[in-house]
Amino acid sequence: MKHLKTPFSIGKLSLLNNIFYAPLAGCSDYPFRKMTSKYNPGLIFCEMVKMDALIRHDPNTFHILDYDQSMHPISAQLCGSKPSLAGPSARIIEDLGFDTVDLNCGCPVDKVTKDGSGSGMLKNPQLIGEVISNMVAAVKIPVTLKIRAGWDEDSITAPQITQIAEEAGAAAICIHGRTRKQGYKGPANWDYIKECKDVAKTIQVIGNGDVVDGPSAKRMFEHTNCDAVLVARGTLGHPWIAKEIIRYLSGEDVENYSFEKRRQDLLEHFLHTLDYHPSRKVAVDMRRVGCWYFKKAAGTKAFREAISHADDSEMVKKLILNFSLDDIQNEFSDTNEECSEEC
Ligand SMILES: Cc1cc2nc3c(=O)[nH]c(=O)nc-3n(C[C@H](O)[C@H](O)[C@H](O)COP(=O)(O)O)c2cc1C
Repeated sequence: MKHLKTPFSIGKLSLLNNIFYAPLAGCSDYPFRKMTSKYNPGLIFCEMVKMDALIRHDPNTFHILDYDQSMHPISAQLCGSKPSLAGPSARIIEDLGFDTVDLNCGCPVDKVTKDGSGSGMLKNPQLIGEVISNMVAAVKIPVTLKIRAGWDEDSITAPQITQIAEEAGAAAICIHGRTRKQGYKGPANWDYIKECKDVAKTIQVIGNGDVVDGPSAKRMFEHTNCDAVLVARGTLGHPWIAKEIIRYLSGEDVENYSFEKRRQDLLEHFLHTLDYHPSRKVAVDMRRVGCWYFKKAAGTKAFREAISHADDSEMVKKLILNFSLDDIQNEFSDTNEECSEEC
């Protein structure tokens, strides 16, 4: 399939493929990355961190950036709008051993945009150019950025930002096809991603928004001609999605993930969580994580209810170990019986 690239390069960095896993604040933590990296996406991202917090050596911020060797290639994402902090914070990321460093120009949260960071940057494309230039000058690893289509429908700045970022030396730009105003609602408009690809000369364009399986990845590639795709919410409870997409794009049979396989992966995710987080956090996190793995599966509501009320890690472990197909009377299948809990 012409769109699937194995290997794929960003700048001088060679990656196994062009199917990437997104930064997801509050979700793509160490256990999540430990779990997902085993399915070999081309690149995985940590949750975003703030430039100023890195510069002042805030321990919690460094904690978010914990990784182990199995997670390479791995990118860290910076959030901030001050050109003076951009170079020094990118250098910290490089010194920590990350493979790429990314600038967040998409976060829609008010407390981030109010100082002009995150999607606030979309209103000031020249500032993005300045911040990217300073990052590029400070490090040898590829510098990338992740943007939205624009602030709202009346100010679509993504194509202009693509050109500015290219001139500033960014190696790749990821475009989330929603506006800031949309938040995470409604469909992503892939026409905007195509417009960015049309103006890009050397910069790699990564398409993002609504890629949830092989067919949607194929449609994203075909519609936009993008160089890579970034999967975000589609990775939650589906750590194997890169493998699934790659098989689909290669024309191979896509393995149907059985109930037992999902249960085993959930157990493994739980064990990574238990290894990494303090026990009081484990049960709280697993309430969400347990729900992700069986989010759309018919007959799993009782399990989701139970895990979302678990009080401690022993209870979580028992629930996962004892969960069997008998509990759901062989009803298991992917449906739209959605879990109410959003990430
Ligand atoms: C819970 C949550 C946390 C997110 N955190 C980040 C983040 O830290 N950095 C970022 O660039 N995007 C973040 N995003 C946006 C996603 O990376 C992605 O752009 C968006 O969800 C669209 O892709 P999707 O339709 O595949 O989910 C987040 C999205 C969600 C739902």
